[in-house]
Amino acid sequence: MLLSAGPGENAVWRQVCGDRIDMTETPFQKVKADLKRYALRENRTSAGLGFTLRMFLLTPGFQFVFSRRLQEMVVKIPLIGRLLRRILWWWSCVFFSSELAMAAKIGGGFYVPHPFGIVVGAATLGRNVSILQNVTIGRKAAEDPRDPVIEDGVSISAGAVVVGAITVGEGATIGANAVVTKDVPPHSIAMGIPAKIIGPKPVTDTPLVDRPVAGDAATTSPAA
Ligand SMILES: CC(C)(COP(=O)(O)OP(=O)(O)OC[C@H]1O[C@@H](n2cnc3c(N)ncnc32)[C@H](O)[C@@H]1OP(=O)(O)O)[C@@H](O)C(=O)NCCC(=O)NCCS
Repeated sequence: MLLSAGPGENAVWRQVCGDRIDMTETPFQKVKADLKRYALRENRTSAGLGFTLRMFLLTPGFQFVFSRRLQEMVVKIPLIGRLLRRILWWWSCVFFSSELAMAAKIGGGFYVPHPFGIVVGAATLGRNVSILQNVTIGRKAAEDPRDPVIEDGVSISAGAVVVGAITVGEGATIGANAVVTKDVPPHSIAMGIPAKIIGPKPVTDTPLVDRPVAGDAATTSPAA
């Protein structure tokens, strides 16, 4: 079923959605939520010591997300915090060829399996958001300073571009290489250029990126 929303409808819906994003987590709580999310991807109920070590030492996606959390932690250090955050941000950009704007707000449970070619502007990302490689989230044009709001549980597939003052509703999926410039209702799928909305899909569906990888978790490379 194709859904369409007029401009007035979008404005009302955006007001409602904006309030649904909870940004009260501390950086430490976010790290715990991030770890849990990566564990879920391997069909684990919790992150044990061995799993946690593997995430911190040998998992680029988790390291990318953690470098962001470190920035959120060090910026609170008096006097040198902002400088430290900028140095970490710079290192993360260069090391992963991906950029999460310092002004972006990103909730816990952030899942990035392949941290390459990603650009996120000053957008707001809720909890349990997934982003695959080569995703761009940001402004539609230099003269329009408004960035997207991505609600809880949204999955954004490889190569997608999400731009403008739009809201991607809770649990929505953005298909590979989609170009999204309009609001996406909760639990629906947006795909194509320009993106067409399909849905809402059944809320019980496990998001694509949360489907556990078959085989031995310790030896299987996480793929989306
Ligand atoms: C959007 C997506 C989640 C939809 O999956 P799905 O619900 O299983 O959809 P289906 O495969 O049943 O396809 C339904 C229709 O949409 C089309 N379609 C699927 N994905 C599309 C996409 N990204 N862009 C345009 N059309 C797409 C299909 O061709 C099909 O069209 P048809 O009905 O005319 O035959 C999925 O196609 C997708 O894009 N996944 C991203 C995968 C990814 O990024 N992987 C990275 C691995 S590292």
